[in-house]
Amino acid sequence: MNNKIKKILSKKNKTKIICLTSYSKNISEILDKYSDIILVGDSLGSVLYSYNTTKNVTLNMMIEHSKSVRQGVKKSLMVVDMPYNSYNSKSEALKNAKKIIKYSKADAVKLEGGKKILSIIKHLRKNKINVMGHLGILPQSQIGKFRFKGKTTFERKRLLNDALLLQGSGVFSIVLECIETKLAKEITKNLKIPTIGIGSSVNCDGQVLVTDDLVGLNLTPIKFVKKFYDIRKHFEIAIKKFSKEVKNKTYPSRKFSY
Ligand code: KIV
Repeated sequence: MNNKIKKILSKKNKTKIICLTSYSKNISEILDKYSDIILVGDSLGSVLYSYNTTKNVTLNMMIEHSKSVRQGVKKSLMVVDMPYNSYNSKSEALKNAKKIIKYSKADAVKLEGGKKILSIIKHLRKNKINVMGHLGILPQSQIGKFRFKGKTTFERKRLLNDALLLQGSGVFSIVLECIETKLAKEITKNLKIPTIGIGSSVNCDGQVLVTDDLVGLNLTPIKFVKKFYDIRKHFEIAIKKFSKEVKNKTYPSRKFSY
């Protein structure tokens, strides 16, 4: 087993796991100091390309961004989302996962879903591909409005069962997206592998957020997102200064000219 994965597994019940998204080298360099896992999420579709669904994200987009991210990652475990329509069958999933790993040197891939994709995950694991699971809100299969998961007894049983099935299929960790607090606790308690929550309470073994959201780049409010900083403000200060100096001809001065 990959040493970085062993390290993630060893954190269960000891210390919280930090996971953040990145789509490029510069951001990865910053995150790498503080993260255990860097995720090249297909959220890049909405964050960078303003798509209203991650279904429009292609395998090539994921590969190109992952290649950039790879250059900034030294110590963290790097996970890449397999995009929509890239794992419809066992052979397609294996071919595409291998392609992602070959070009990006990622440590693992992430797939959305439970029981339905179990045979695909097992096939990837049989072929030595490290896999992270993803349950709860599944943006790639979302129709209509997002709402938290675990409202009905049926849904709660299904999610717990899916989590156990995923664990049995060999995933090393599971992202729990927008799962009700007590259910997130129950799932986390029943698993040997760590859960990484997003909008799923403090009860998970780790937390993930879209980096653009936590630094205040995204202006759309999301219930579970805390804005830890307002990077827009600081960006604006620099841009304003540049604009002013160009207009009053103090930039570029002699020092910045050939
Ligand atoms: O696509 C993504 O960034 C994700 C995280 C939000 C978990 O899947």
